[in-house]
Amino acid sequence: MSPLTVLGVFCGLFLPLSLSEYNTHNCIPRKSVLYQDNMKLFREEGIWNYSTMLVREDLGLLILGAREAIYALDIKDISIKKSVVNWPVTDEKLKECTSKGKHAESECRNFIRALHKMDHNTMYVCGTNAFSPTCVNVTYSEGHLTRGDRLEEGKGKCPFDPIQRYSSVMVGNELYSATSNNFLGSEPVVLRSGPSSLRTVFKSSWLNEPNFVYMDLVPESDNNPEGDDDKVYLFFSENAVEYDFYNKLLVSRVGRVCKGDVGGQRTLQGKWTSFLKARLDCSLPEPSLPSIVQDVFLLKDSDWTKSVFYAVFTPQSSLSDVSTVCAYNVSTIGQLFDTGKFKTPVTVETSYVKWVMYSGEVPTPRPGACINNAARALEMTRSLDLPDKTLQFISDHPLMDEAVPPLTGRPLLVKKGAMFTCLVVDNVLALDGERHAVLFIGTENGFVQKAVNYAGEMFIIEEIQLYRTPEPIKTMRLSSSTGQLYAGSDYGAVQMPLCDCGRYESCLDCVLARDPYCGWDLSSGVCSAVVNSTKFVQSLKNGDISQCPKSDTLKPENHTLVPGNNIKLPCQPDSNLAQVHWLFSGQPLLSGTKHYIYNGGLLILNASTNDAGPYTCESVEQVNSRTHTRTMAVYELQPQTNKAEEGTETMTTYSHSTPLPHDPSVLEPPLPPAPRSDEHRVVGLQVSVAVLSVMLVGLVAWNVYKGQFRSKSSETSGAGQLKGPSVDVQRSKTSEIKPLTPTSSHNANNNHSAFISFKGNGEHPFSGCNTLHVDGFGYINDESEI
Ligand SMILES: *[C@@H]1O[C@H](CO)[C@@H](O)[C@H](O)[C@H]1NC(C)=O
Ligand SMILES: *[C@@H]1O[C@H](CO)[C@@H](O)[C@H](O)[C@H]1NC(C)=O
Ligand SMILES: *[C@@H]1O[C@H](CO)[C@@H](O)[C@H](O)[C@H]1NC(C)=O
Ligand SMILES: *[C@@H]1O[C@H](CO)[C@@H](O)[C@H](O)[C@H]1NC(C)=O
Ligand SMILES: *[C@@H]1O[C@H](CO)[C@@H](O)[C@H](O)[C@H]1NC(C)=O
Ligand SMILES: *[C@@H]1O[C@H](CO)[C@@H](O)[C@H](O)[C@H]1NC(C)=O
Repeated sequence: MSPLTVLGVFCGLFLPLSLSEYNTHNCIPRKSVLYQDNMKLFREEGIWNYSTMLVREDLGLLILGAREAIYALDIKDISIKKSVVNWPVTDEKLKECTSKGKHAESECRNFIRALHKMDHNTMYVCGTNAFSPTCVNVTYSEGHLTRGDRLEEGKGKCPFDPIQRYSSVMVGNELYSATSNNFLGSEPVVLRSGPSSLRTVFKSSWLNEPNFVYMDLVPESDNNPEGDDDKVYLFFSENAVEYDFYNKLLVSRVGRVCKGDVGGQRTLQGKWTSFLKARLDCSLPEPSLPSIVQDVFLLKDSDWTKSVFYAVFTPQSSLSDVSTVCAYNVSTIGQLFDTGKFKTPVTVETSYVKWVMYSGEVPTPRPGACINNAARALEMTRSLDLPDKTLQFISDHPLMDEAVPPLTGRPLLVKKGAMFTCLVVDNVLALDGERHAVLFIGTENGFVQKAVNYAGEMFIIEEIQLYRTPEPIKTMRLSSSTGQLYAGSDYGAVQMPLCDCGRYESCLDCVLARDPYCGWDLSSGVCSAVVNSTKFVQSLKNGDISQCPKSDTLKPENHTLVPGNNIKLPCQPDSNLAQVHWLFSGQPLLSGTKHYIYNGGLLILNASTNDAGPYTCESVEQVNSRTHTRTMAVYELQPQTNKAEEGTETMTTYSHSTPLPHDPSVLEPPLPPAPRSDEHRVVGLQVSVAVLSVMLVGLVAWNVYKGQFRSKSSETSGAGQLKGPSVDVQRSKTSEIKPLTPTSSHNANNNHSAFISFKGNGEHPFSGCNTLHVDGFGYINDESEI
């Protein structure tokens, strides 16, 4: 890390302090669960790109699409393959494709891109088929998948190019798809195939080099007082037309079409008469380029007006690494389309076109509206009956003036680090009788962030590593009935339970985890999935542990103190959000030249007989304004006697032959307290800056944590947020210092904790949240200025 980088991290850290509305520590996952060998994984040798999934709870299957293969896997354990059907490209197709200059392995294969549920046990499957998209029925019966004989043209239903983003949804037996319609990938289309096939007009005002992300149906005709129609919503990003910007600027959009649309009579014949789009807003509190939508999930409610779209966004500038999640109310989007203003192109100067708010008269029936009671009152029962004026207007003005605001007015979650790639959301009924939306967010480095929003406060319960090596998660699917999450990557598909309550070993840990799936079972004394009963302790909003049984006081562990040795007393908090406090004879210990508190415990340097006595390690965790303190370990250091007493263990550090016994400065890298004494002045600029950062970061963290400044840089090493730097120090030290007995009552039962790291996923967690987006480019939204 160069000094400049360190300083850069710094500047980024100080600016967001003003954003007091954000609570920094909430963006750090409370637990980091590293890859476990028992993870259920499916992959087959030689097969790649497991990027399409369909959950068939009715058949007990996860249907998985990969390169040239479709699998039927057991929904309860995807490592069990029930059947496979291969769908390779023909030699002829392969030749044709390579002769057009495409790569044989990475492009001219059949990449399965669409899997849709059809009647009974049939799936409609589309693949890129060597740049010649093709669809086919696949049926599952008597334990076998079989591919139908009848191949269908997949143009417009599935991309030619496997790299291209695309989306589709099956509504009844009609496929709605959004993809490009030609070999070059230059002709985007939103298509409905079937008897009443419809498409978008090929104009840049409709779709401008789009990247399609997601489509789904909202059954808006249910109990609709306006007699409105069902709608298919589409999420994508595209080149903006509405901003003055020196360069191409991407924006995120939501678009929609009406299910009952059959096109126009003369104008817009065979084209959508109801295609409308609006910008999706998910802006950070500080100025930055619009962020780009990457995936969306529709959390459905039996009352469609209460359904919510959740979307993950990543920055469009490579200078930023801040991902966000925003939620959008379906009703709000609908209202914007139904009553909002349109944008219109205006030619300024000679050739330059600017899009501004349209303030002229809007024809009736309202352009872009579905056939509803208002249209029926005018004796228009199909879109074919719509007047040319309305149709011409919508053909020229598909873009709304206003952007769709996020549900809470701002992002639900802002997180620095590995980019978010996809998400699914589960609706969980907790013991308090309330439903909570639990977000599972996949990342570029193969982690899933499990997050939940409690009364406006976003809380990341845990992050779970799904792949041994960093694999971008390409797709995720949820099966609420089996309680499983499925993730696909180029490497393989993995399965993860939505909750693993056994991970929480104490009542306090279980309750502070604030996982709506889990509660502390008072009768059995374990953390387990909640069922409707009163014997569980759960406190999601407050993390109230008062219902937890009083835990037994820990018995101290006896150790012999050998004067002159360095002594390591292990203690690890079970939460990334906890701070560790050490007490010696009841008095707080601070990191200094003598004592060094790091993420893994306490290091006593050059111990002397004065250091004998009781040591207590406490984990202090805050939920809202409540502080919870828990004793994690107690040690009793006893002065050395000639004969080691029974029940006493010696904590040795160096062997006699080691030439570097008592001087901590010999240890590398220098310990944080080092700069206090003169003989350590030799440390380079880099180290000073690093140490300085650790101290200042500590101040910042402490300030944010406590809501006030306390000028004790010595607090640094205890803060959960600061584990980044301290871990490094520790790593190089453990090779030198070998405690004989690193066990404590906490560590004794940690079959689970063996897999739990507090290092996070290789990021610097202290720069976790809400750091200012240092893009530097503002963008101009000056439509009112002309
Ligand atoms: C696929 O199956 C459906 C019935 O589930 C049928 O209507 C359709 O024609 C079939 N398509 C092909 C290409 O075989
Ligand atoms: C398929 O997987 C390979 C191997 O990881 C990767 O290099 C390639 O980009 C993937 N192709 C697509 C279309 O995802
Ligand atoms: C969405 O907006 C509608 C109408 O304003 C409201 O009734 C509904 O409760 C909102 N949904 C959510 C999830 O806030
Ligand atoms: C538990 O049962 C009670 C009554 O039997 C009901 O009111 C409550 O909603 C249930 N809660 C959950 C979480 O199922
Ligand atoms: C530790 O030593 C004390 C006496 O100093 C003794 O009473 C106690 O039982 C010992 N504890 C253990 C766990 O051996
Ligand atoms: C260790 O402490 C003793 C006194 O307790 C002192 O004499 C000695 O110089 C110290 N050693 C180092 C390397 O600081």
